[in-house]
Amino acid sequence: MSRTSRLISVLAAPTSPSLSTSDPQAPAVAVLPVTAAAAARAEAIAERLGVACLDPEQADAPDELLLVRVDNRIELRPPCSWGLPDFHIDYLSGALGHRLRQGVHAAPMLARACGVRGRSCPHILDLTAGLGRDGMLLASLGCQVTLVERQPLVGLLLEDALLRAAQALPWVRERVELIVTDALESSDLPVCEVAYLDPMFPARDKTAQVKKEMQLFHRLVGRDSDSDRLLERARGLAHQRIVVKRPRKAPFLANRPPSGSITGKTTRYDIYPVT
Ligand SMILES: C[S@@+](CC[C@H](N)C(=O)[O-])C[C@H]1O[C@@H](n2cnc3c(N)ncnc32)[C@H](O)[C@@H]1O
Repeated sequence: MSRTSRLISVLAAPTSPSLSTSDPQAPAVAVLPVTAAAAARAEAIAERLGVACLDPEQADAPDELLLVRVDNRIELRPPCSWGLPDFHIDYLSGALGHRLRQGVHAAPMLARACGVRGRSCPHILDLTAGLGRDGMLLASLGCQVTLVERQPLVGLLLEDALLRAAQALPWVRERVELIVTDALESSDLPVCEVAYLDPMFPARDKTAQVKKEMQLFHRLVGRDSDSDRLLERARGLAHQRIVVKRPRKAPFLANRPPSGSITGKTTRYDIYPVT
């Protein structure tokens, strides 16, 4: 594969209900091009996901989870009854945008946990890509990063955000690839130096409650209740170490004590060397 074509997306065959949400009463999913100019792309997305593409006239469809294609980005619009804001991924604005441009000073604990030192930048296999923030921070430091995400809608938002980021940050195209598949099921994942895991962890008290703008994401991906199995899966895919991100006081993944941890105010990185 040439360096310029590293930014790829392999969509797993969409299967219900994981396409829509982990919510048992999940609404139907549809794609809505907000402008006529976005119609062709919206149709292609709908076909790929195996869902309906609505007419822009139906812009107020209140009961569906909509993937809204506006001119320059894709957003997820929840049903009105959920009372949640639209959701998209963006690597170019806000604090994350600033950190990604800054590169070398970004995320020192994450970098240390993953063994990024000076010019030593391991290839990272991020098996729980989510919003791709950690993966992008590692890529901004110089690491090749393979992002793996199993939720197809999140995968689509990720792909869209990466393509937009690649226009402003040239290293994205060179260093980041995206594979939309379940890491526990796929036999096609590359073996890398470091496997990185950050599965969802349920908020247990009020202070840890999810911010409103993140609630749609949480509702989509659910609780990752099979996450203990990821540790064993990662063993077969990393030849240097596995790094697991946890809330500071959370139990170890799969109750397996790591050989060391790096602990910050709210987050802990558990390190499992692969021997
Ligand atoms: C907490 S989020 C990760 C956040 C991410 N580290 C970031 O910086 O944005 C966890 C993500 O892992 C994904 N995930 C969980 N298990 C997975 C699996 N077996 N294969 C692929 N993705 C998985 C979930 O769908 C969810 O999007």
